[in-house]
Amino acid sequence: MTSSPVSLLEQDAVGVLRIRNPPVNALSPAVVQGLLDGLAAFERKPDLQALVVHCEGSTFVAGGDIASFQDPAFSAGPLNQFLGRLEAQRRPVVAALHGTVLGGGLELALACHWRIAAPNTRVGQPEVKLGLIPGSLGTQRLPRLAGAELALDLMSTGAMLDAQHALAADIVDELSDGSVLEAALVRARDLAAHPENIRRVSTLRVDTTALRPDFIQKARAHAQQQPNYPALDSIVTAVEAAIALPFGEGEQVEAREFAKCLRSPQSQAMRHLFFAERQAAKIPGLPASTPLRDIRSVGVVGAGTMGCGIAITFANAGFPVTLVEATQAALDRGLGIIRGSYEATAAKGRLTAKEVADRLALVMTSLAYDDLAGCDLVIEAVFEDMALKQDIARRLGAVCKPGAIIATNTSTLDVDQIAAATGRPADVVGMHFFSPAHVMRLLEVVRGAATAPDVLGTVMKLAARIGKVAVVSGVCYGFIGNRMAEVYMREAEFLLLEGATPAQVDGAVEALGFAMGPCRMLDMAGIDVGAKTVIELGKTGGLPNDAAYRAVVQKLFALGRFGQKTGSGYYRYEGRKPVASEETSEICEALGRELGVARRSEIPADEIVERLLFGMVNEGARILEEGIAYRAGDIDVVWTAGYGFPDHRGGPMHMANAVGLAHVVDRLDHYARVRGNAHGYWTVSPLLRSLAAEPSVLSGPSRPACAFR
Ligand code: COA
Repeated sequence: MTSSPVSLLEQDAVGVLRIRNPPVNALSPAVVQGLLDGLAAFERKPDLQALVVHCEGSTFVAGGDIASFQDPAFSAGPLNQFLGRLEAQRRPVVAALHGTVLGGGLELALACHWRIAAPNTRVGQPEVKLGLIPGSLGTQRLPRLAGAELALDLMSTGAMLDAQHALAADIVDELSDGSVLEAALVRARDLAAHPENIRRVSTLRVDTTALRPDFIQKARAHAQQQPNYPALDSIVTAVEAAIALPFGEGEQVEAREFAKCLRSPQSQAMRHLFFAERQAAKIPGLPASTPLRDIRSVGVVGAGTMGCGIAITFANAGFPVTLVEATQAALDRGLGIIRGSYEATAAKGRLTAKEVADRLALVMTSLAYDDLAGCDLVIEAVFEDMALKQDIARRLGAVCKPGAIIATNTSTLDVDQIAAATGRPADVVGMHFFSPAHVMRLLEVVRGAATAPDVLGTVMKLAARIGKVAVVSGVCYGFIGNRMAEVYMREAEFLLLEGATPAQVDGAVEALGFAMGPCRMLDMAGIDVGAKTVIELGKTGGLPNDAAYRAVVQKLFALGRFGQKTGSGYYRYEGRKPVASEETSEICEALGRELGVARRSEIPADEIVERLLFGMVNEGARILEEGIAYRAGDIDVVWTAGYGFPDHRGGPMHMANAVGLAHVVDRLDHYARVRGNAHGYWTVSPLLRSLAAEPSVLSGPSRPACAFR
């Protein structure tokens, strides 16, 4: 028999309902049952004066158990029943808060009669980030306590308030510098002596005196502008109920809206990503106990845009950084980029002058590789040229101290060849940052054939310290992200040759919620950068024997249309605004004629979406087959964190699961028939075909059994 994660202890005539459910004390079904049992035990002990709710470990309850939401039988009923009974206690109930008091954790605290918080406490209702609304009366109690405006803001953004701000907002009643449990016991006894100070939040009314009359109307209009996030509209509905209806009726509105959100494909996608991001950090076969290398200082070779972004990333996380370049002019330019970036952030009020000075002071510059000798990690971030990268690798292999990690930021080249040049390949790993490196969340960590397990483990851990979500990729052209992007861009360009406009291609995927379609994306990243990658791949014999393959980007490059930075690429630019370019249409038409591509007058948006995205899913399946990615979820994290794939669709592999793999295969076969398959573009991956052939028995709310895992 397993012991309950909740116990009722007694301390000086006060009951302590203690939750112990590491790592974050999430409200699993067992915790909820434990709370119900603990409360029943308290009710049987009339000699206890009061009750304190307290959690062991580093945090109070950080939320409902997201894993249990996946269970089709999940119901918030038992927890809500517990919260109602807790609040109805005649004896005082005090919440002793510390750490992250989120979601169900805050809802538990709000059902108590008094909230006392340690200074490290942060409170919030982050359910919206999972496509949900608070489901345990948070939508009804929070507006009653903090006011409708702040409550709506917290629920719609998922933002957290620190202890001081929570106190000012009346969400907590008191802060405690010392032991929060001791302070809660003192407060509990005091309230027992002065029961008139007990406050039951459900009995309060939402204060509407300062509320604008059109508050709900405006909030709803704003929510409805984001139809891909239906939870936003549900939050408005629930807050409106809190303002207008008695508590019990508001409770029903919340329950209805919560159930609707829980079933929504958007929430299923966002919950999938929550776990996929955390799963991605785990390396199969690497025990959690593996001793890791100590990283305290970092070197960066190359002070271009990428190198500077990497330096900023590490300085932001408090690491001293040594930036090395070949010339003083390049170093000065790099330092200018870094200073400019910090000053722009400060101008937006996000950094103080002192913070800017402190971070700049962490960045040292040098022309000498010898100055990298003391660094624990050195990242090479020069442009994509194998000979240059190998030359630098050789120098780093000689100069870096034993045990130092040598990383390359290559986005496409063979990490094993670079590793070999160092003479110590076990110390080498790929760290593929995305531009701008200090902004983009994704880090692809490339595992070379000889990369030591502790090197991989160290870099994954380090990624979390610098605020990145990291995904491991094996060595192949373009790793996970750029390899799949190649298929995406290939089809985008074929469609242009067939007569689609860049706006049509972009519009089709942007309608799905993509931040940016492929043409706008490449115009921003630089047509020159994209074209050079294709040209380099051609030199190594990596291109298909197809003259039309990525012909558009190469033509635009040859014509000097480098994208946004030169004022024209796929689009023409008015400032930063892309506008349709007649010239691009003419270029594509002429190129299509030259290459013998048949023009079509009408290309449906569905076809654009299928050719771009299903082709990419097929490549993702190959990446899984070859063991380049550990899991389908890793691919989804790459695309949502690094390439603007909409989180409410969960990434390409989740999307494929949702539409059904049999359908994806069907459409790939269709394009093989109608477009021809001379170059194997539409050859279905054996893994994908075999999964699609499995019987499609539903194993979850809408999750086919024959799905990528
Ligand atoms: N339900 C189930 N598991 C949860 C969880 C929750 N609400 N919150 C965190 N976890 C798990 C994570 O999956 C992870 O598990 P793992 O170690 O097996 O991978 C572990 O707790 C630690 O979480 P992680 O996010 O890696 O740690 P962190 O210290 O960076 O962040 C939190 C901690 C609580 C801030 C963060 O996990 C979070 O925001 N959680 C979600 C909170 C939330 O949305 N609550 C409302 C749910 S209704």
